[in-house]
Amino acid sequence: MKKITGLVRQTILSVLLFIIALAAGSPASAQPPVRTLDINLAQPGKAISSDLFGVFFEDINYSADGGLYAELVQNRSFEYQITEQLSWNALTAWELTQRDGGRGSLAIATAVPVHPNNPHYVVIEVQQPGGGVGLVNFGFDGIPVQAGEQYDFSMFGRQLFTGNHWGGNGVLASPARFVVRLETKEGAVLGETTVNISGRDWQRVAATITATNTDSAARLVVLSQTKGGVALDEISLFPRKTFKNRANGLRPDLAQAIADLQPKFMRFPGGCLVHGHGLDNLYRWKDSIGPIEQRRGQENLWGYHQSLGLGYFEFFQFCEDIGAKPLPVVPAGVCCQNADNQGGTGQRGLPLEAMPTYIQDVLDLIEWANGPTNSTWGAKRAAAGHPESFHLQYLGVGNEEHITPVFEERFKMIHDVLKAKHPEITVIGTVGPFHSGEDYDAGWKFANAERIAMVDEHYYESPEWFLNNLKRYDAYDRTKSKVYLGEYAAHEGNRANTLRTALAEAAYLTSLERNGDVVRLASYAPLLAKERHTQWRPDMIYFNNTSLQLSVNYFVQQLFSQNQGDVYLPVTLPNTATNLAVSSVRDSKTGDVILKFVNVGAEVQPLKMNLSGAKKLVMQATRTVLTGELMAVNAFGKPAAVVPQTSSLTVGEKFDCELPAHSLTVIRMATR
Ligand code: AHR
Repeated sequence: MKKITGLVRQTILSVLLFIIALAAGSPASAQPPVRTLDINLAQPGKAISSDLFGVFFEDINYSADGGLYAELVQNRSFEYQITEQLSWNALTAWELTQRDGGRGSLAIATAVPVHPNNPHYVVIEVQQPGGGVGLVNFGFDGIPVQAGEQYDFSMFGRQLFTGNHWGGNGVLASPARFVVRLETKEGAVLGETTVNISGRDWQRVAATITATNTDSAARLVVLSQTKGGVALDEISLFPRKTFKNRANGLRPDLAQAIADLQPKFMRFPGGCLVHGHGLDNLYRWKDSIGPIEQRRGQENLWGYHQSLGLGYFEFFQFCEDIGAKPLPVVPAGVCCQNADNQGGTGQRGLPLEAMPTYIQDVLDLIEWANGPTNSTWGAKRAAAGHPESFHLQYLGVGNEEHITPVFEERFKMIHDVLKAKHPEITVIGTVGPFHSGEDYDAGWKFANAERIAMVDEHYYESPEWFLNNLKRYDAYDRTKSKVYLGEYAAHEGNRANTLRTALAEAAYLTSLERNGDVVRLASYAPLLAKERHTQWRPDMIYFNNTSLQLSVNYFVQQLFSQNQGDVYLPVTLPNTATNLAVSSVRDSKTGDVILKFVNVGAEVQPLKMNLSGAKKLVMQATRTVLTGELMAVNAFGKPAAVVPQTSSLTVGEKFDCELPAHSLTVIRMATR
């Protein structure tokens, strides 16, 4: 009887407790226990890479032409071809215009080009000038102009004949006069200037237009007012305002968004773009330097054209401007294994007899970047306006190749020469497109045999995959090649940039910091994507001609990069804290200690911080939190749903804090 009474009492008590908990808003079991985190701030810690978080720029999704590169004229050198897009030809994005009784025609010619690398040009024959005969350019989805801003126009031209075709005595009596205008699509003038072309030799003419009104999708109109024939090429229009006011420069808002990430390095120009869809489509860095009319644009394997106006000089200059180390990637002497849609079997290698010349190109790149101004290639850098070294330290060779004998033979040839001639350069090899499997295994075996300093790993996986693999690098052999995680992103089934993907990446980044002795570099991919011209999702920054949207994933990258350390301080976390990822680093330059917490759970996580050796801590710290609905997305054209919020926090040897559900929290503490 006594026993039954005890049981009844216990049951009544449990029911009461449950009712009290319900009344309080949630069942007692849903509240995670308060966890205690121990960190010894006085310990020496583990040295980790100070270059860990960088960016990867690839010309995919119209990231270069029509994107970061500020040129406003599309197909400025008349090099678009049907092989790039079925509906394309040399006059794509251009149209004949005949104004007020004007009569004439357009043709494409190749007989006497400005430069052999830029073979096509346009010929305008004006039979009757009227109000002008010439060309309209539609830009990349229109030309955005702003009232009061200046636009720098330039073009190359030569007179072919005056009067009637083949008529006259061959003497060019007068120059061809051009009116150059910005117009709305209805034809209203937004600003204009004039230029003259005179004589039979190619010459560059330039003038500035000040826009009188704002238009997000204007056109450029180039109207000849003179009877006769003229050849034109490299018709260009740049906003005067480029990033850091560089000539042939970059779009300021996009460049600034990248700069705001404070990347420690920038990898370029790809990606698959580097090894191309065939041996004649390899990215050759020498084609991308020098005067723009001499650059050899080519098909972009992502289905459009690359003018190479944004070339190696501009990449290196941008890196310098944003304080990022340049990380160029050169082909490994083979093209993509998916070339010609051959799904993994399309890899081909340069003929072995072509390899010495190819290897010399790679050596020339190092001389171009770092060599003295009296060296052949250093002199070209100086002539382009940069006598100082670009301090090239990292060089990628190859991009996620299928590891075959063809690849290995060519990579080894390049690597052996680089090791012998440039031991100061960290060469980065490749271990295939996935985190495991045949190429990964063969790539690592090859890297170990060849003692490659670093290898580039790539993987795009689900958020769950990232969360289940937080220990991946804990087990890596510290005596082998170091790792550059050159491409990664967490992918939802619908490829949306949800907070869920960003938090999975954030949790993973804490594991990269913990393993920053072996993982030396990491970059999310891809970086940029233009609205309506996107081949790959998700991306970090979305844009159109006039605005941009920073994804939630961008903010994760930014918080890690802005709060990077160079010493890892081990943290003790209870084993039961399955929804939590934590890292703790010190920045030895400032002495700041930075804690990062990722709570992927749906409940608030209370924490008790126990910092030993915290005597020198400044009590006022900053706390930045990124949180929101788990599936929230920063949609283009709408206010961002998830942005970081920063506030101050009082810290000390012991302090309490709470991690919101679904959040990344960064606490930055200064020391005296
Ligand atoms: O980042 C997009 C592509 O993914 C890269 O070009 C390639 O390296 C990878 O397959």
